[in-house]
Amino acid sequence: MKKIICFFLFLFFLLLCCECADQSKFKLCSQSTFCENNREIRKNGSGPRFSFVPSSAKVDENKNLFQIDLLRSDEVEPRLFVEISSVIPGVVRVKINEKDPDLNRYEVEGVLLTENFNYQNAEIVSQNEELILLRFGSEKEKHADVKLVYGSSWKIEILNSGGEPIMVLNNDSLFNFEMDKKDFLLNKQKEKEKEAEAKNSDNEKEKEEEEEEEKNQEDDQPNYEERFGGNTDSRPYGPSSVALDVIFPDTEHIYGLPEHSTKLSLEDTEEGEPFRLYNVDILEYETESRMSLYGSIPVIISKPNNQKTLHGIFWFNPSDTWIDISTQETQTKKKLFGKNSRVSKRAHWMSETGVIDLFIMTGQEGKMYQVFEMYDTLTGFPYFPPSFSVAYHQCRWSYKTQKEIQNLNEKFDEYDIPVDVFWMDIDHTDGKKYFTFDSRTYPDPKQLSKTVSDKGRKLVAIVDPHIKKENSWELYKEAQSNDYFIKKSDRKTDYEGHCWPGTSKWPDFLNQKVIEWWGSRFSYDKYEGSTSNMHIWNDMNEPAIFNGPEMSIPRDTIHLGEIEHRNIHNSYGFFVTKGTFEGLIKRNQDQNERPFILTRSFFAGSQRYSTIWTGDNMANWDQLKYTESMLLSLGLAGAPLSGEDAGGFLNNPDEELFARWFQTSAFHPFFRSHSHTDTKRREPWVFGDPYTSIIRESVKIRYSLLPFYYTQFYKASTKGKPIMRPLWLVFPEDANALNEEVENFSYMISSSMLVSPISEKNQISKDVYLPKGCWYDFHTLEKINSKGATYKIDAPLEKIPIFYRGGKIVPRKMRVRRSSHLMQNDPITLFVFLDENKKSSGSIFIDDGHSYDFKNSNKYIHQKISFQNNKLFTKTLNSNYDPALIERILIFGLEQTPKNIMDNNNQDLIFNVDESIDMITIKKPNLSIGHDWQILIQ
Ligand code: NOJ
Repeated sequence: MKKIICFFLFLFFLLLCCECADQSKFKLCSQSTFCENNREIRKNGSGPRFSFVPSSAKVDENKNLFQIDLLRSDEVEPRLFVEISSVIPGVVRVKINEKDPDLNRYEVEGVLLTENFNYQNAEIVSQNEELILLRFGSEKEKHADVKLVYGSSWKIEILNSGGEPIMVLNNDSLFNFEMDKKDFLLNKQKEKEKEAEAKNSDNEKEKEEEEEEEKNQEDDQPNYEERFGGNTDSRPYGPSSVALDVIFPDTEHIYGLPEHSTKLSLEDTEEGEPFRLYNVDILEYETESRMSLYGSIPVIISKPNNQKTLHGIFWFNPSDTWIDISTQETQTKKKLFGKNSRVSKRAHWMSETGVIDLFIMTGQEGKMYQVFEMYDTLTGFPYFPPSFSVAYHQCRWSYKTQKEIQNLNEKFDEYDIPVDVFWMDIDHTDGKKYFTFDSRTYPDPKQLSKTVSDKGRKLVAIVDPHIKKENSWELYKEAQSNDYFIKKSDRKTDYEGHCWPGTSKWPDFLNQKVIEWWGSRFSYDKYEGSTSNMHIWNDMNEPAIFNGPEMSIPRDTIHLGEIEHRNIHNSYGFFVTKGTFEGLIKRNQDQNERPFILTRSFFAGSQRYSTIWTGDNMANWDQLKYTESMLLSLGLAGAPLSGEDAGGFLNNPDEELFARWFQTSAFHPFFRSHSHTDTKRREPWVFGDPYTSIIRESVKIRYSLLPFYYTQFYKASTKGKPIMRPLWLVFPEDANALNEEVENFSYMISSSMLVSPISEKNQISKDVYLPKGCWYDFHTLEKINSKGATYKIDAPLEKIPIFYRGGKIVPRKMRVRRSSHLMQNDPITLFVFLDENKKSSGSIFIDDGHSYDFKNSNKYIHQKISFQNNKLFTKTLNSNYDPALIERILIFGLEQTPKNIMDNNNQDLIFNVDESIDMITIKKPNLSIGHDWQILIQ
């Protein structure tokens, strides 16, 4: 009977989580006290006023920190202070906290790459009664100037090298710092008294009387509880929200704040809901919505008007955060005819708790990518995953048996479709106990691993962070006996909730011991059946809880014995991946293998441990369309390794949508097909031709481009550059690139290729904007000399518009095989696309594709290849790996037929010319990547 009840309960929760996006499960701003209050403050101008206390201004020369107090207008003693520093050249950190708090506000550790920054020299440049000017860094190097404006309300301006503000903090006095903790303190006091009493008094009657009195007293206390959806958040600490407005002067476009399914440029929110950052499990999310999704990166990138630079702000706060965006127009000067106005953007940040800790990244004119490098210096450069992960992944919830995967392993070959990875969703486990295999359905996972690895393929297994409450399970017992689970608000009892296995508990990943323990569970002896060929998928790590408030864990649950979950919510998923990453490194004795991890939940810093996917999307055209802006936004906010469920997770795509989805997904950094357990089967051959052929072709294109993509992954991991880029990032001087259609629905891969997906049914051509320059049609190789115009491009079902950019060299491997591993030693074909000045350049990175040898022992090749003055030549930056043979060089756009082509030994090379597409083919040039050479065209 008990079992039957459990089964129905489980079905009920399954249903709960499988219905379409139920917005009522998630808070609106008006249902969140702190969001509503801060919005009210904005509307009524009713917030508390704070001003600087000039006499308190000082520079701590040892630490290079500037400090100044903030005084609330209705108080006599300052209770807050501002600390300003520069942690890396050009990055200003502004922290605001309480001076002498009754209770320290929690500041999450481990998200920033280091706390031991090399603080830049801080000095006061000038000061008077109205302001104080600070400089961080030296005059010669990149430095940052900061102006503090006194007056009835404090204001901080971050200046560019011309002395103009690039960001202004608290311009509109929306700063708020709630400090009402009376209730908490009283309760604490009571607890102490109670303990003392329990020791001293054994007079029961007396106790009872006092308890009664306490109860009466409690009734008099303010009640900070917040109710939502049948759940009560006890909020014993009272309101502690922080809020601030940040102006981006002379800026029409700001970007970032993933994850949202909206357009790329952040829209104004005054009329509706703010953007929300609160990691939740949301099924069937809608497009054009500012609701929270699975991950949060509190970063805004601003693109100042008519400038070739980007600035950024990182609001380092992992608690529930809402952001209102608005546009401000200010009249600057009167022109002869009409007025001149300046458009600026404002972001009003509102976080439930924590401190204000901002990093402002100031870009220099002409440097569009500097901001990404700065951000990654703070939070870590993206990890460099093994090369197989750049290839195609096949997933479904779930391949229920080992046989099914073995069958897939054959079928992909039968249909001549390359694939690198087969994924095992929750059903491969023994009763949703992660780190196990169901012995009935997956009797020999090691054999499975061998079968796929014989073809150079890999496995990925899902490991979610909810732990089934099962007293006989060794892993559960271990965690239980070590007291590793998150506690309820009583601080004593383990928190329990419902997820896939039924009643579950959640490890406290804030505890370093738990991270280590979790990591240790990936060792081959503990994770029986796992092999070095198997990598990991961390799902449901928001954490998702079917019966929890907003499908997650209550905010008043407790970490590390005292820290409320609300303080760290958005970073929980980050810590899960940290544990997984460290475990996967340690499972190999030499600790030299690069892990691959996919995560659903993420925060700033997640890029250093994992690839991200956009969660439970739906199989419809609209979702396909909005995938691009979601991935572009992630790339701009420092998470370039991302993708989506190709085909749409929920519902059944028709064959046209499915084929179109593969055509664009093949260009996304992470390329995986995935589907819900209730959907019809849709492996690439299910729809038959022409669709199967179209899918095959898309996957093969991706495989042929692997040398190019792998190089981009390497560059992302060293320079932080997004892999998918909006056109304006590559063509900052082109105003048309900011056009909505262009910005959202075409993208660049690195700065070399332009992709314009088809995301409408029955669409067979598309107007594609090509910035000024030469472009080469990917399919026909025909050249278009664009003046910066829109072209109608044919897009029959078989193809989507894709262009190579003139001036770029793209390395490819043209013999596509069953898996990327089998192509590892294949020769390279160089595609050289000349620009209008007959120049071109590119680069290539090669290593073993799986180890840290590239880092630990410099075993890699990194080579630059350039074309100039009729010469193709290389510059090898590092050549400590097996050279790769070049089998062909294709040069496009030379507009002349060469008499001869010679290598550096003056040997004539064999070539032919296809005048119809202005292409020169040099066959078997007897050259390789890894050696320096040059080719002269005469
Ligand atoms: C939710 C994930 O988003 C989805 O991709 C997965 O298939 C299911 N959980 C089952 O594990």
